Amino acid sequence: MTKEVQLQKYQYALKMLDTEIEILIEEFANCHGYNPVEHIKSRIKSEESIKNKLSKRGLSYTERNVLFNVPDVVGIRIVVSFLSDVYDVVSLINNSHNLIVKTRKDYIEHPKESGYSSYHLIVLVPVYLSNRVEYVEAEIQIRTIAMDFWASLDHKIRYKFPDKIPDDVSLAMKNYAEDIKELDKKMYHLNQVMNKYQANI
Ligand code: GTP
Ligand code: MG
Repeated sequence: MTKEVQLQKYQYALKMLDTEIEILIEEFANCHGYNPVEHIKSRIKSEESIKNKLSKRGLSYTERNVLFNVPDVVGIRIVVSFLSDVYDVVSLINNSHNLIVKTRKDYIEHPKESGYSSYHLIVLVPVYLSNRVEYVEAEIQIRTIAMDFWASLDHKIRYKFPDKIPDDVSLAMKNYAEDIKELDKKMYHLNQVMNKYQANI
């Protein structure tokens, strides 16, 4: 008989992570009189997507394989207004006493070949069970609304063309990723100007 894969601890980790992020952001907003977050979305990867991810690598659906090969069973996406907000949120996570940052990938400094940009962190989330503490991996994605707009269309395109995205479509998306980057910079500068006006009122 095959052993059933327990996903319960991932549910606990998601609750812990949601709460931790909520408190960090709320405290930041209270201190600075400014909330950088547009919206937050969190999820547990479905059993079906976990199985798909494993089978693409030729791996079977076991507790061990999930543990060592699927770092994003728990995932949270924090969508912020401006470029600088991304790095403010990263600092909050770096300084959190509860989360341990395992890896980080700055796809804003170094966008992916597709044009995708976001800041990714894999963190360890403590889950306090009755007789022990378990550290569960979770993926945190932080991006601006402009980057989120691009990523959500890109996701739809990938879904429509699972084998290969037509060259003209992928080229257009790469170009639009550049446009998004420029727009994010312009919005950042405009916000700086607005802050100066506000400081002089
Ligand atoms: P997977 O891509 O999930 O197999 O893991 P990985 O090791 O490549 O990690 P990576 O940090 O590159 O990407 C993890 C997640 O980022 C993905 O599950 C997507 O949510 C998102 N992502 C990465 N690349 C792209 C992309 O080109 N387009 C979109 N829309 N999302 C992407
Ligand atoms: Mg990938």
